[in-house]
Amino acid sequence: MVKLGVLVSGSGSNLHAIIDNFEGGRLDARIQIIVSNLSGVYALERARKHGIPSLVLLHKGLKREEFDQKLVEVLKAHDVELVVLAGFMRIVTPVLLRAFPMRVMNIHPALLPAFPGTHVWQAEVDYGVKFAGCTVHFVDEGTDTGPIIIQAVVPVYDEDTADTLNARILKQEHKIFSQAIQLYAEGRIKIQGRRVLTPGHPQAADEFMINPAVTEKRSAG
Ligand code: GAR
Repeated sequence: MVKLGVLVSGSGSNLHAIIDNFEGGRLDARIQIIVSNLSGVYALERARKHGIPSLVLLHKGLKREEFDQKLVEVLKAHDVELVVLAGFMRIVTPVLLRAFPMRVMNIHPALLPAFPGTHVWQAEVDYGVKFAGCTVHFVDEGTDTGPIIIQAVVPVYDEDTADTLNARILKQEHKIFSQAIQLYAEGRIKIQGRRVLTPGHPQAADEFMINPAVTEKRSAG
């Protein structure tokens, strides 16, 4: 059973999916502590409802490194092995990464390396991409640049807004984050440079999606 520390800043729907999978016996990872850098967020309410220890560590007034040092102390005090950033809207520093080398995972709502950073759904709609998705990756010192563990792809439709696309991607986030954690728990993750391999675990079928769809020729007018 892997011991998780989950860092949050918001509603915590990814946190909820992880809790749900653990409670349903589908995930060999137990949450030791949930830390929020903001007070009053719904993720804390979810922690309370499920009887999981949580605390607020406000970043305001602290240098990034000072904040991360406090974070490390809390995570170590709770015997955390794997740190999971579940909608944690802070850039982490080497202080955290050195304390948990290749043991910090982040979920990002885009198909990295496209659309790093924030406000990605509007950027994707505006750019006109036909596919979007989400990525779980190990965190390195860049922003959304670390080795990719798992990705899910969704189509982008003509009528999409940032909100509808966000909702479609979020559904997949809830699946792939737990899968990434489970792969870690099973010891299946092998890191080779930038590449994260999962020997012995099934990979996606050699299929494709095309959007808009390829159809038979229709007669004009
Ligand atoms: C998720 O879409 C996650 O991918 C994103 O924040 C949302 C949190 O939702 N994370 C980032 O953008 C990190 N750069 P949640 O609080 O409902 O899990």
